[in-house]
Amino acid sequence: MSDNVDRPECSFDKWAENFDDSIASDPGCFGRYEDVLDAVVEAARIQPGMQVLDIGVGTANLALRCVARGAHVIGLDPSDGMLAKAREKVDQHASIQLIQSAQPFLSTGYPDDIFDAVVSTYAFHHVEHETKPDAVREMARVLKPGGIIAIGDLIFENARAEQEAVQKYEWLDEEPFSHLDELRAEFSRLGMTLDCHQYTPVSWVIHATGIKQN
Ligand SMILES: C[S@@+](CC[C@H](N)C(=O)[O-])C[C@H]1O[C@@H](n2cnc3c(N)ncnc32)[C@H](O)[C@@H]1O
Repeated sequence: MSDNVDRPECSFDKWAENFDDSIASDPGCFGRYEDVLDAVVEAARIQPGMQVLDIGVGTANLALRCVARGAHVIGLDPSDGMLAKAREKVDQHASIQLIQSAQPFLSTGYPDDIFDAVVSTYAFHHVEHETKPDAVREMARVLKPGGIIAIGDLIFENARAEQEAVQKYEWLDEEPFSHLDELRAEFSRLGMTLDCHQYTPVSWVIHATGIKQN
């Protein structure tokens, strides 16, 4: 990557060093962080031998949980710094491959139908609204028929719920947060059903199942 300080992942490069520590001191955005990650692993039904794609892998906290269950994980992330921190935490023999990718939700770089599960935590809200449908289609494209997509993130029921939260919580920055009504419609267009569970006033774990038609 170039040294262009304007690239958005720069803020993640800087944050990487203390990212894991900072989670505990941010109960607003990262409230119930450990529960959310555990719930994503449960929702994706991670089991030994599964091929899992973790998008926005960060410092590998979710990927390490999947590996602990015997899965093989490929973790994609745009940030050099986050990936460097992840590499420090990942045993060189662990079944995790960490790969830098500029827009991993939009272009995973993998063929159709190869992952048993696509997972992600606290990263999908970095995808712009207009390209979220493309990101949903890309996740479904690389998923094996019958596979599961599981995401934990800052998400709102709809645009109104987001507006209310932005006004209520001064710590909540405006970002292109997903809306459940739009995600349900997008997954439904692919023949998949979305299950949604709320963890905090701003975070949900969602998972899509069903045979995709893409
Ligand atoms: C808040 S961290 C979450 C990291 C990790 N998934 C976790 O739950 O601890 C957000 C991560 O998303 C990555 N990211 C930023 N923009 C992204 C994008 N457009 N697509 C995918 N990942 C992105 C960042 O580099 C960072 O590693």
